[in-house]
Amino acid sequence: MAPAPLPIVRTVAELRRHVQAWRKDGHGVGLVPTMGALHAGHLALVDASAKANGRTVATIFVNPKQFGAGEDLGRYPRREAADVDAMARHGTDLVFAPSVDEMYPDGHATTVSVAGLTDRLEGGHRPGHFTGVTTVVTKLLLQAMADRAYFGEKDFQQLVVITRMARDLDIPVEIVGVPTVREADGLALSSRNEYLTSAERAIAPALHRGLRRAAEAIAAGTPARQASQESAAAILKAGFASVDYLECCGADDLEPLDQPDRPARVLAAARLGTTRLIDNVLVPPP
Ligand code: PAF
Repeated sequence: MAPAPLPIVRTVAELRRHVQAWRKDGHGVGLVPTMGALHAGHLALVDASAKANGRTVATIFVNPKQFGAGEDLGRYPRREAADVDAMARHGTDLVFAPSVDEMYPDGHATTVSVAGLTDRLEGGHRPGHFTGVTTVVTKLLLQAMADRAYFGEKDFQQLVVITRMARDLDIPVEIVGVPTVREADGLALSSRNEYLTSAERAIAPALHRGLRRAAEAIAAGTPARQASQESAAAILKAGFASVDYLECCGADDLEPLDQPDRPARVLAAARLGTTRLIDNVLVPPP
């Protein structure tokens, strides 16, 4: 017998009805927020949720509020049917795919923002981006009232910001970070990798190579500023057009660190043709 098709709901009311029924039956609930265009990195989030929770709800919503003017909202890949298929194969129990009007009805006027943590790195280069992210994630957390919510370490600043936001607002959810999934040559999986031409795709792993080189040099005692400059130069030499930032930061507070004395990560964003890629790696502990 063919498995029952994965239910897709489009309203908050329907989502809540499903979650309430699950809770009544004693199931824990995991939430996997996505903007669709799924790759193996997203599916690792679904797998982690399905393993730890009786029921998993995955969301598909290309959130216009987290794209700035001139960014890629219009060309962001959309393929709901294929995404739903993949989610079903990985143990999702329900897909929530609301419209923009359902999420932001006429008169929507409230935003959530996290001060400090969002000023630098991605926040410094994408004004308003994190307010868009924290507003939509707050809404999704309150709509689903899940026990756990899953986010990739690939967007490391986003993970730190959302963790702080949930703590600061006493949202009763555990925020779970899931390691980055990479291609064999080190390129972090991202829906935006689809924008790369084949020549750019060949250059793209230089971002991860540069990050690893910086992290290893820092772990060996090179001051982070020097290691970062050398890695940024190597990334440019490989063919990237520009490096927005490449910095060693505290893993919990994202404060710049020159000689790490606590857990640290090196984070970078760089442009390759018309595509902006981000990635980060852990600085190996001593
Ligand atoms: O990481 C993403 O795909 C998005 O920023 C998120 C968390 C789904 C919010 O729109």
